[in-house]
Amino acid sequence: MASVNPCAAEIAAAVAATIGPDVRAEDLKVEAPPRPELGDFAVGMFAVAKALRQPPPAIAARVAAELPRTGLVTGAEAAGPFVNIRVDRVWALRWLAAGELVPPIGRGKVVCIDYSSPNISKHLAYHHIRSTMLGHALAELHRALGWTVIGINHVGDWGTTHGMLLGAFQRWGGEYPTLDITALNALYVRYRAAIEQDPSLEAEARGWFKRLELGEHEARALWQRFRDISMAEFQEVYDLLGVKFDFDGGESFYEDKMAEVVAMLETKGLLEQSEGATVVRLPDEKNPILIKTKDGTSLYATRDLASALYRKRTWNFDRSLYVVDRGQSTHFRQVFKCLALMGFDWAAQCQHIPFGLVRFGGKKTSTRAGSTGTGDRPFLLRDVFDEAIEQVLPIITEKNPDLDAEIAARTARWVGIGAVVFANVVPQRDKDVDFDWDRAMALSGDSGPYLQFTAARCSGIARKAGSPASQRATADWSLLTHDAEWAVARRLLDFGDHVARAAASCEPHILAHYLLDLAGDVSRWFTLGNDEPALRVIVDDPALRAARLALVEVVRHALARGLQILGLHAPERM
Ligand code: ARG
Repeated sequence: MASVNPCAAEIAAAVAATIGPDVRAEDLKVEAPPRPELGDFAVGMFAVAKALRQPPPAIAARVAAELPRTGLVTGAEAAGPFVNIRVDRVWALRWLAAGELVPPIGRGKVVCIDYSSPNISKHLAYHHIRSTMLGHALAELHRALGWTVIGINHVGDWGTTHGMLLGAFQRWGGEYPTLDITALNALYVRYRAAIEQDPSLEAEARGWFKRLELGEHEARALWQRFRDISMAEFQEVYDLLGVKFDFDGGESFYEDKMAEVVAMLETKGLLEQSEGATVVRLPDEKNPILIKTKDGTSLYATRDLASALYRKRTWNFDRSLYVVDRGQSTHFRQVFKCLALMGFDWAAQCQHIPFGLVRFGGKKTSTRAGSTGTGDRPFLLRDVFDEAIEQVLPIITEKNPDLDAEIAARTARWVGIGAVVFANVVPQRDKDVDFDWDRAMALSGDSGPYLQFTAARCSGIARKAGSPASQRATADWSLLTHDAEWAVARRLLDFGDHVARAAASCEPHILAHYLLDLAGDVSRWFTLGNDEPALRVIVDDPALRAARLALVEVVRHALARGLQILGLHAPERM
């Protein structure tokens, strides 16, 4: 992937021109050298060595000697297959202050992102945080790059499970005077248990679902009530998280859109009968994909075929992502294969974005069977947030005694929730996450609060300097000569590249790790002033102070932007 860092782009162009006409700037990878003493940028010669039929070190040596020292480039040295390049720091800093952190390289492109997508009539359990916040981060990453993003909450509101609920409600509904998700979940669990005793209930549930599919009034009205209760509760959590969807048509939305898909499969001669069910056999798959049950009712996969087609027709996506746990890998592989068999070449644009499990104190969290978590209560996302906020509030008020109570409460909410969110986006996506309170809440180390604290430190410095007005446009960047300042600036130049890479590979942790590195550079810079007052940001010399404040301002902006993309707020004080 070509770099979106303007310095890197300029360097690639200059190096390509030096190598000769056979090489394009896009073929060169411009990186950071392993150690800053080596240079500001490094360009490897591997990719061009083949085309030129010369060993990479020979090309590197020639480029280092011939690269014109003009404009951005001030020096070049060969190191094995690499050319290490030094740049004019003032040029780079000026760009940082004037340019956008993230260039709109995705403008004109559309991405559909299916995320969160919980099943109705069940609480949002702790494990829902991963799909919700990984999906949210992917949506924000693409938005930052200029993509048009369609965030989709494909709620599970259809299928035989909902038949069971209807059956349960008809039997025992009267025993639950307040019908909330807890009651709905209890009804469901009770029905499942009853099936163990009396297997005929299974058929009864299927019957209810059939009535639902036929649009029978009583069944529809009850189902709608369950859905509304569920969506209202989900919304409360989404509001806390700042998560917004562009479309929340769930599985039921495709009810009248499945017949067309089934007809298409029929016309293409892809349908087969297997043990009474209607299936499609797929290349290199042991099991066929199920299209209809023996009762003729539709299935999860049928709805995913219809929804994929609907998304393509409605939004004409360039990419369609499904942020769903890796347990559903087979399902998505089969759905995409089936779309390809149907002749849709855009099946290749559909991608399952799997993620690992979450554990809480070593336990797997899930509401299946309703027995996990503490006692008989499922392990709720809200409970975790409440506890985190409760832990944070006294610390915030102790450290900021003059903070307005309302702002302190809001900050505690941002930091508490932010800690939980960050702990779920910082590990590599496919890794399991073992949530560790102390580590997630720590004000140092790889935590969300650490990043928020660094952003708040930047705000604090600006407040202390009494300079609310932006210094960026007028700063004399040539005054920032310390290597620690340059390390921060150099890191900031890479912001856009990390956003672009995180979006392309659907790996939000790339941005999370980058922000931690940035915070590390910033804290090294700020620490210098402890021993050497001349290196503090707020020094007497007005021009130097303005230049340092300008850099602090860019840092604050970058941290806040990065945190926002990952679903965290950046408080002014904490
Ligand atoms: N509701 C499903 C579940 O909770 C996830 C749905 C994912 N999206 C999809 N298009 N299948 O497991």
